[in-house]
Amino acid sequence: MDVRLNRELLLEAARSFGTPLFVYDQDLILERYREVLTFTPWPKVKILYAMKANYNPEILRLLQNAGAGIDAVSTAEAILALKCGFSAEQILFTANNLTEREMRLAYALGVLFNLDEIATLRRFGEIFPESDLCLRFNPEVVAGENAKVQTGGEFSKFGLLSEQISEVREVTARHGLRVVGLHIHTGSGIKEKSKFLLALDNLLKVADRATFPDLRFIDCGGGLAVPYRPGEERVDYPVLGKEIAARFAAFCNRYGRDLDLLFEPGKYLTAEAGSLLVQVVTVKRTRRKTFAGTDSGFPHLIRPVLYGAYHHIVNLSNPDGDLQSYDVCGNICESGDLFASDRLLPEIRPGDILQIQNAGAYCYSMGGLY
Ligand code: LLP
Repeated sequence: MDVRLNRELLLEAARSFGTPLFVYDQDLILERYREVLTFTPWPKVKILYAMKANYNPEILRLLQNAGAGIDAVSTAEAILALKCGFSAEQILFTANNLTEREMRLAYALGVLFNLDEIATLRRFGEIFPESDLCLRFNPEVVAGENAKVQTGGEFSKFGLLSEQISEVREVTARHGLRVVGLHIHTGSGIKEKSKFLLALDNLLKVADRATFPDLRFIDCGGGLAVPYRPGEERVDYPVLGKEIAARFAAFCNRYGRDLDLLFEPGKYLTAEAGSLLVQVVTVKRTRRKTFAGTDSGFPHLIRPVLYGAYHHIVNLSNPDGDLQSYDVCGNICESGDLFASDRLLPEIRPGDILQIQNAGAYCYSMGGLY
């Protein structure tokens, strides 16, 4: 987003609606959506928006109108998606540690289950024999922005393992379950193309070995990376897309049918389109620091505290002020409540409005009332 162009608009929004305020650029969300839809030259690409990134109903409706489906991870998410206009057939339900109650509720909603654990699979088969379902496998690759959001590899709780294929086949055969999709999710913010491809290769190997006859799709999961720091390079997705398409075409050839290729982006669609606007209430100089104290805090944007994530901050009210070093902090009674530490910013004065960028994914949705 070009801050200069939007500065007046953002200040006006902060004045009219008050702060803290999340603002979104819907054109950018749609642009990112189209990028993901087209970066892989395969005629049957589909996108399931990982709504955990941001379940704002306006964003859900926007993406529904654009033609997206949904990756839902809880019954609450599935119900909200249905209320926002998605049909049950457009929703893949990838829950973790699924209780029987949740299983029955989600089944009644009509969504497609994505299961990744043998005991849950058995239970599902006993209760709902002859059903369609998708299976999540461990991609056997460790990748992602930080250790907390890496979901593949030996130490991850997610996914079935390739050595469980025969057991999976035994359970699905016993209950007449039709495996219509195979899925991986490797992590969030994967910058290495090679890791993305290795994960896909591993899933396609599983697909080759398991020979499920009813496959309709292969789902690569989410994990597309966005730059958070100024000057950080963007991943060249069209280059990656060509590699993905070549591998996928070869697989479909072996399989004997062209399948749908699914992606589940969350961060890539919404992160850059969102900003959190906060107002500085106090500027406090201590012996060692200058704190810019805002009217927000980690209950609105927890990524810096939880992951040490960098979010770029702009002083909208004084863009040309002299640069000084600030700790930009929230109003919570914890010293860790920081949006940025030792950050050079144009002079901040009480009353200034700060724009915290890339706040469209995993900020509002990970928020709370603390
Ligand atoms: N599919 C599944 C099954 C997932 O678990 C996730 C994210 C996605 C898709 C979407 O991943 P994305 O494209 O957004 O990377 N709170 C962390 C991110 C956690 C992602 C968890 N799973 C953050 O703020 O970086």
